[in-house]
Amino acid sequence: MRRDDTPSLTATAAWRAVHAAACAPYRAVPGFYRLIGMQWSWHWARGKLAHDPVFRGLLERGDLPPRARVVDIGGGQGLIAALLHACEQVAERQGWPAAWGAAPSATAYTCIELMARDARRGETALHGLHFGPRFVCADMRQAPLPPCDVVVILDVLHYVDHAAQDALLERVRAALAPRGRLLLRVGDAANLRGFAISQWVDRVVTAARGHKVAPSWGRPLAAWIARLEELGFTVHSLPMSQGTPFANVLLVADLT
Ligand SMILES: C[S@@+](CC[C@H](N)C(=O)[O-])C[C@H]1O[C@@H](n2cnc3c(N)ncnc32)[C@H](O)[C@@H]1O
Repeated sequence: MRRDDTPSLTATAAWRAVHAAACAPYRAVPGFYRLIGMQWSWHWARGKLAHDPVFRGLLERGDLPPRARVVDIGGGQGLIAALLHACEQVAERQGWPAAWGAAPSATAYTCIELMARDARRGETALHGLHFGPRFVCADMRQAPLPPCDVVVILDVLHYVDHAAQDALLERVRAALAPRGRLLLRVGDAANLRGFAISQWVDRVVTAARGHKVAPSWGRPLAAWIARLEELGFTVHSLPMSQGTPFANVLLVADLT
């Protein structure tokens, strides 16, 4: 939460503090690898938050509003919840960069995640946070969506076919409050090379994490935007592959 008297912090210092605070809870997650001194969840959080440009970008632009009820679809081990909590802590204790959007915070967080192991890791790490993160192990095609202000779907929709994508987007639209926001990251299938690289890496990572590798369904960026506009969203698209060979785009889709 950002107050008028929040002191300003440099962007570098803020991101360093947020990164450390967001990763810290995952140290508590036990696992086989801990036997040999490796805490998988913590390492995954550290690497993903540090190297995927989407997370810091969300904070710089203020894409995640304060005091939001957030639903994170395909949210894995709940990095978005950890990030929200870390932002609130850092803003309260150290301040927040004046050039960034208001520090985000959550009043509720629900992660809908297919893989039980990932949901369990999130729950173990984050169950004590004050906004009571909920991890629902379920298929997003059937899981009910609670009323919310923000829906986050990062790199997930391509796992289900186009009809299922459309049905889910309609339910997202219905779950969002007036002036709600969907943060949707997708691959742009019109960028043939970048999209193919994304798919190849996704398959390797999916298999390495012990998940079943299924076919994936993409669309050109223009088709994603058109679909969201048909649902009544105003869409702003941001390239989201800086420093990577992928074709990822973040769609910030707002209801008015
Ligand atoms: C590439 S990961 C992205 C994780 C997270 N959104 C992030 O950006 O860190 C995709 C996630 O979607 C989940 N997923 C795939 N199909 C799903 C489905 N039908 N229902 C719910 N989650 C699903 C996967 O298990 C995985 O955790």
